[in-house]
Amino acid sequence: MESAAETIRRIFGGDANSLGSEMAELSAQYEALNKVKFPKPKSTRYIAVANQKGGVGKTTTTVNLSASLALGGSKILVIDMDPQGNASTALGAQHNSGEPSVYDVLEGRKSIAEVKQECPDFPNLDIVPASIDLSGAELEVADMDDRTNLLRNALKKFMDQSEKHYDYVIVDCPPSLGLLVINAMCAVTEMLIPIQAEYYALEGLGQLINTISLVQEHYNPILLVSTMLVTMFDRRTLLSKEIFEKVKEHYPSIVLKTTIPRTVKISEAPSFGQTVIAYDPKGMGAISYREAALEIAKRSPSVLAALKKKEGRN
Ligand SMILES: Nc1ncnc2c1ncn2[C@@H]1O[C@H](COP(=O)(O)OP(=O)(O)O)[C@@H](O)[C@H]1O
Ligand SMILES: [Mg+2]
Repeated sequence: MESAAETIRRIFGGDANSLGSEMAELSAQYEALNKVKFPKPKSTRYIAVANQKGGVGKTTTTVNLSASLALGGSKILVIDMDPQGNASTALGAQHNSGEPSVYDVLEGRKSIAEVKQECPDFPNLDIVPASIDLSGAELEVADMDDRTNLLRNALKKFMDQSEKHYDYVIVDCPPSLGLLVINAMCAVTEMLIPIQAEYYALEGLGQLINTISLVQEHYNPILLVSTMLVTMFDRRTLLSKEIFEKVKEHYPSIVLKTTIPRTVKISEAPSFGQTVIAYDPKGMGAISYREAALEIAKRSPSVLAALKKKEGRN
């Protein structure tokens, strides 16, 4: 039987520059992704998505990679550490002020098991929501002993007790380098840095890398910057390509080959309480995030080996 891709190619023609060929390619990618098996990591991967700049695609990346991995058969726990609660919104979680959330977890009133919710679109995906209440936490926990390890301790307790095995724990960070982000960095072993393909993209990256180094030195020696992902890529502009080349030049082994295009569907999805994976599954945005997720999944053995090596040294 003729595949959807072949039908599109037959109708629109296979000319390299035609819309038809682009659609056929997209459709072929979609079909291939549905067939491919996403390898599961041998042990849980703990990843914080961070960049102190706002609006670079942290939340979009957190929710769409998580949904992609869940669709690929992995079990995911997303932790929203941003008082804005945008990841909670996009994953369809209740997070009004006063609702049980990560705020209660950090302050020791509730366990992760008590506050987590299931994502309505993806049964493999659980979310620990954040509400605006979390904005008070930075100050409230400032004098607590072990204030940098509040998330780490709660997460360890939960993972030790949980009957469900999670393949990935993915933490969405707020745009700052304060105590909430430090808590995220102490609770994970990997950092994923989204980089927006724009002129000032690499500015500020030094500051982030410095903070990560400080956390490595003082709190979490095995923390590894395992992944960078170029977001809001516009393939029509030279600038986007230049930024991608620069990132590849500086971080060749870290940056994913897949880039995320700027698309309207990606920005529309959250207003429907959805990821783009559920909202527009066959579009370029969803397909790119799934390709990126597949790359991340395939890199699990090498990342886990690098972490093991670091652990051995500490
Ligand atoms: N690839 C993309 N294409 C179009 N809009 C995007 C894309 N990625 C993010 N956005 C939009 O840009 C804004 C900032 O993204 P967001 O993920 O919230 O950034 P951050 O969490 O780093 O602040 C949001 O309105 C989001 O919908
Ligand atoms: Mg965000």
